[in-house]
Amino acid sequence: MLLRVSRAGEMGRFWDARAREDAFYFVDNVAGYRDGDTERFWAEGERALDTILGLLDLRLGPRDAVVDIGCGVGRLTRALAARVVRVDALDVSAEMLGRARELNPGLANVTWHRGDGTSLRPLADASTDAIVSHVVFQHIPDPAITYGYVAEMGRVLRPGGWAAFQVSDDPGVHAARPGLRARLGALVGRAPRGQADPAWLGSAVDLAVLRETAGEAGLDIERVVGEGTQFCLVRARRRSG
Ligand SMILES: C[S@@+](CC[C@H](N)C(=O)[O-])C[C@H]1O[C@@H](n2cnc3c(N)ncnc32)[C@H](O)[C@@H]1O
Repeated sequence: MLLRVSRAGEMGRFWDARAREDAFYFVDNVAGYRDGDTERFWAEGERALDTILGLLDLRLGPRDAVVDIGCGVGRLTRALAARVVRVDALDVSAEMLGRARELNPGLANVTWHRGDGTSLRPLADASTDAIVSHVVFQHIPDPAITYGYVAEMGRVLRPGGWAAFQVSDDPGVHAARPGLRARLGALVGRAPRGQADPAWLGSAVDLAVLRETAGEAGLDIERVVGEGTQFCLVRARRRSG
C-alpha cells in the first residue's frame, strides 16, 4: 500500500514535469516534439474516441454521465463533452489539469479532478454511466495500480454501465530504452526527456488477472480487442445484480 502511494507521488511528479516540457507531445507522441500542430491534436481526440467506441461496439447517449481516467489536457474529454450531459475528467497531474482548464474554458459540463494516482476518489459509488481511458494504463509502472483502477470502475459504474479502456498486453514494449542520440538530444532540449523513466515506460497487464479483478468488482469483461498488443482495448460492464 505504502509503495503504491509513493508510486503515485512519482507518477504525479513525472507527468507534471512532462506537462511543463511539452504537454501536447507527451499526450500524443505521434506528433513531433514541440511541433505545435494543435488542430491535428484535437482532431485526433475525436478520432481516438470514435475508434475505441467503434471497435468495442459501444454508443454514448446525450443523457450519459462519463468519467475520463487520465484525461491529460482534455483531448478525449473535449470530444466526450460534446456528446454527453456530464464528464468527470480525472488525472494524477495538476499541471496537466491546469492546461486542460486553460485549453477548454467553454466546457460547462466538465468537472476536472486531481486524482490520487491509484483510485477514482472523489467520485461516488454507482455515479456514472460510462468510463473511458486511453493511453494511460500503459504508462503505469505497476500493473497492480491498473488492477486497482479496474476495481474502482466496478465501484463507480452504475449497474449496467460500461467501461471502455486501453491497456498494454505486450510486455516487450515496456523495456525499450532510448539510444545515445536521443539521450544527448534530451540533454540539450532537442528531444523528449523522461523516456527511460518507469512512469513513461509503464507496464503490461496480465489479462487473466485483469479478468479476475473485474469479476470480483462486479464487472463482466464483454470484449477484448488487440490481445497481445500495446493497444489492447477492453469493454467491461457492471453487473446489474
Ligand atoms: C499519454 S497521456 C493521455 C491523456 C489522454 N487520455 C488522451 O488520450 O488525450 C497520459 C495521461 O495519464 C495521466 N496519468 C498517468 N498516470 C496516471 C495515474 N496513475 N492516474 C491517473 N492519471 C494518470 C498523465 O498525467 C497523463 O495526463
